[in-house]
Amino acid sequence: MQNESKKSRGGGVISRYRSYLPVSETTPIVTLGEGSTPLVFAPRLSERIDCRVLVKCEGLNPTGSFKDRGMTVAVSKAVESGAQALICASTGNTSASAAAYAACAGIRCAVVLPAGKIASGKLVQAIAHGARIVSINGNFDDALRIVRELGGRDEFAIVNSINPDRIAGQKTAAFEIVDELGDAPDIHILPLGNAGNLTAYTAGYSEYKQLGKSRRLPRMIGIQAEHAAPIFHHRVIEKPETIASAIRIGNPASWEAAQRAINDSSGAVEIVTDHEILEAQSWLAQTEGIFVEPASAAPIAGLLKLAREKRRDLMPMDATVVCTCTGHGLKDPEIVSAKLAAPVAPNIEAVREEITRS
Ligand code: F0G
Repeated sequence: MQNESKKSRGGGVISRYRSYLPVSETTPIVTLGEGSTPLVFAPRLSERIDCRVLVKCEGLNPTGSFKDRGMTVAVSKAVESGAQALICASTGNTSASAAAYAACAGIRCAVVLPAGKIASGKLVQAIAHGARIVSINGNFDDALRIVRELGGRDEFAIVNSINPDRIAGQKTAAFEIVDELGDAPDIHILPLGNAGNLTAYTAGYSEYKQLGKSRRLPRMIGIQAEHAAPIFHHRVIEKPETIASAIRIGNPASWEAAQRAINDSSGAVEIVTDHEILEAQSWLAQTEGIFVEPASAAPIAGLLKLAREKRRDLMPMDATVVCTCTGHGLKDPEIVSAKLAAPVAPNIEAVREEITRS
């Protein structure tokens, strides 16, 4: 009975793409049924930018972000190698995912976070799943530096994207897109933080092309926030700032690999302002019905900016564009709930007036 319930758990990206991943018959699979997320056609966005735009809704993974694809592989491998505890630095989503997969695996998890800079939904997840949370008076880059040192020294398995098993798992999103479209898109656009995900998509698209499963490689476009844009500016940003806390990173770990992927694909790095991010988040939620966290709205803001600037060199008319929306809108509720109007008197007149107010 116990074996049976273990076997039937999940599905997930390892069971779907096992032969492409660094697992063997004896690897214990830790899964929450991640992956196979919707690739949704966005008609109004397509109309606005004169391309065919599809949104890969990664917020529909078990913990609400794309991190789960990499975490299932990294945690399965960590358990296989006998690790008793996981550790990561995080802007929020990695810690939420690591905490959930550690709970599923029955091992401990420690997360090192920049104090006061984690969106509440993500922090609540790490607490709920029983992670040991250490907040530091520093930013994500400081947290990652500490984790690299601790992970090398102690019994911890590091599950940040510097762990190649994370990248291997995350490349499955590119496989899913090609499997669904029958080829790679012309353009792939996504937010750029620590730069692991753009690197992972590139690995996935390249692997599938080499195997003859697709004919082309997409142009990779990464979007950074204006004041957290080290790759755009070609320099480390000591004090990155943006409302999109997930990508508030000044010294990305996968900087070189991402830069190479962008160059090799004739792609680009673009920047957007916090204002543009919030506008895009609200527009996407209200016109397409897709609610994403601010970091995930950055590529939407990027698309709208490129269209506004008529950058047909990067985004030709009628191109097929896939945009990864990396995390769910509920991760960061404060940003939106601040818009709630004050309560009114409990009578029909006051309620009607409020409803019809312009
Ligand atoms: N979008 C979201 C929602 C993220 O949480 C992150 C990264 C990114 C985009 C950027 O992806 O780092 O692969 O370039 N979040 C990490 C974290 C840093 O700790 O959760 P990347």
